[in-house]
Amino acid sequence: MENNITFTMIKPFAVETGNIGTILDVIIKHGFKIRAMKLTRMSKSQAEKFYAVHAERPFFADLVEFMSSGPIVAAILEKENAVNDYRELIGSTDPAKAAEGTIRKLYGVSVQKNAVHGSDSDENAQVESTFFFSTFERFLL
Ligand code: CMP
Repeated sequence: MENNITFTMIKPFAVETGNIGTILDVIIKHGFKIRAMKLTRMSKSQAEKFYAVHAERPFFADLVEFMSSGPIVAAILEKENAVNDYRELIGSTDPAKAAEGTIRKLYGVSVQKNAVHGSDSDENAQVESTFFFSTFERFLL
């Protein structure tokens, strides 16, 4: 499995509070190339499908409700070691526990409103990228 892409979403609260540009700037300045990107909104059923792995978790209904509550920015990012480097850049799921300078520390306000999603494996990066983007919308080198 190639390790040079990851998938991210800027979540509804971060979009709503005007942080699309600042978050993209951090991402680009850390060496990630944007290879696909769109402003879109998931329906409830799309959010349920995207987060199906969490279906049994107590927070699933709230997660689906929140992630379909408004527009998100979805993007494919390219960089060597993309999944791990991006997870380091975004920080812990809980912004309160995230390291200083990470995206979730800077722009997240709670575990749910934690600013961004990042793929947790190379395999999921592919699955999640395909969930949002057709081959015509990807510009991988
Ligand atoms: P994300 O990286 O998008 O992947 C799954 C999301 O579920 C996660 O970010 C959090 O926003 C959310 N999540 C994870 N754990 C909890 C929790 N304990 N309570 C509420 N939401 C959670």
